[in-house]
Amino acid sequence: MTQIGPFNFNTIVQGDCIEQLKKLPDNSVDLIFADPPYNLQLNGDLYRPNQTKVDAVNDKWDKFESKEEYDKFCIQWLGECHRVLKNTGSIWVIGTYHNIFRVGAIMQNLNFWLLNDIIWVKTNPMPNFKGTRFNNAHETLIWATKSKTSSYTFHYHSMKVLNDDLQMRSDWLIPICQGDERIKVNGVKAHSTQKPAELLYRIILSTSNTNDLVLDPFSGSGTTAAVAKRLGRRFIAFEREPFYIQVANDRLAKIAPIDKPLLEYKIEKRKPKVPFGNLIEKGYVKIGEHLFSRDAKFSAQVLADTSLQYLDVVGSIHKVSATILNKENHNGWSYWYVRRDGILYSIDTLRHDYEKKFLNPHTNYPEINFGNNVVNEPEETFLAYEHNAV
Ligand SMILES: C[S@@+](CC[C@H](N)C(=O)[O-])C[C@H]1O[C@@H](n2cnc3c(N)ncnc32)[C@H](O)[C@@H]1O
Repeated sequence: MTQIGPFNFNTIVQGDCIEQLKKLPDNSVDLIFADPPYNLQLNGDLYRPNQTKVDAVNDKWDKFESKEEYDKFCIQWLGECHRVLKNTGSIWVIGTYHNIFRVGAIMQNLNFWLLNDIIWVKTNPMPNFKGTRFNNAHETLIWATKSKTSSYTFHYHSMKVLNDDLQMRSDWLIPICQGDERIKVNGVKAHSTQKPAELLYRIILSTSNTNDLVLDPFSGSGTTAAVAKRLGRRFIAFEREPFYIQVANDRLAKIAPIDKPLLEYKIEKRKPKVPFGNLIEKGYVKIGEHLFSRDAKFSAQVLADTSLQYLDVVGSIHKVSATILNKENHNGWSYWYVRRDGILYSIDTLRHDYEKKFLNPHTNYPEINFGNNVVNEPEETFLAYEHNAV
């Protein structure tokens, strides 16, 4: 497949994003990154104490008649993003205190399910020249799925190694775009709000897979497209201003994708070779008990031949979860949970425990207790498995 709707993959399309989004099919995009207008409502120019003019965001793309107009605009583009986002995908929206709270409320009203808000701490922020407020040194990113029951990609272990083997936190310290990275045309900044590639690198790396389709409705200087190309993802981006498209295309022409073998998430692929039946044989899962979906809305009974029964569907943990999710295939290890003392535990955790005890028995692990079973897992690892990629 080389295109989606009327668009070729890996292009920046000129036009209003709401109109362009309407041309994309339902449930067709894996990852959305949106850096919409902030609606800063700046009146007049801003000067430093030495009377030099501050390079602020006062572009005409950032002007709206009123807050209501801005909300109307956001409801439309976010509504379209909701329609085109796959049930297995996720969306990121970045903003400042001027707009992010309005955007967040609208996202919730549209049924997006918020997973995190990330604070991008600017290590080198612009000072507050008037000295009348705190130095505004961060922007907020909202990360969300299409709905509460959506599954999504999250490369937990890769983020952990990126953070020196510590669980990645929700405050990211990244400098604003400057130096050689800042694109200039005739010595002038090409775009007033070019985002650092480092920010997009973290987002695309953590929440998508190679070859996924990444969409940016507000492309600007093309940061999302540039990082997507580098990381072996496909992209579609929309932008109204032809000048910015030219800037982005010039930028893209200089980018070579990273070699495929280097893009593999080897660190994530530690799935133990333990068939579900082994968990039953060793008593981790009992014949006749019910397994539950993470939100406990769905349950299926374990039969003696190690298959699951949900209503009149009988099959493997994978087949039954796929049927419930209305998909062709699904990884049952990430779907099913056992209930112990009223708490749900992922069966993936059980197979890791099995592996440690019976396949690698000479390794020492700290013991923690859950329900009737004792498993050798640090608590942090529990969370890791629960949130693992599908
Ligand atoms: C905040 S900037 C995005 C900057 C971008 N993330 C980057 O790193 O360069 C928003 C961009 O959206 C564009 N824009 C604003 N309204 C738009 C619309 N309705 N449709 C398409 N593009 C729009 C503006 O021209 C501007 O370039």
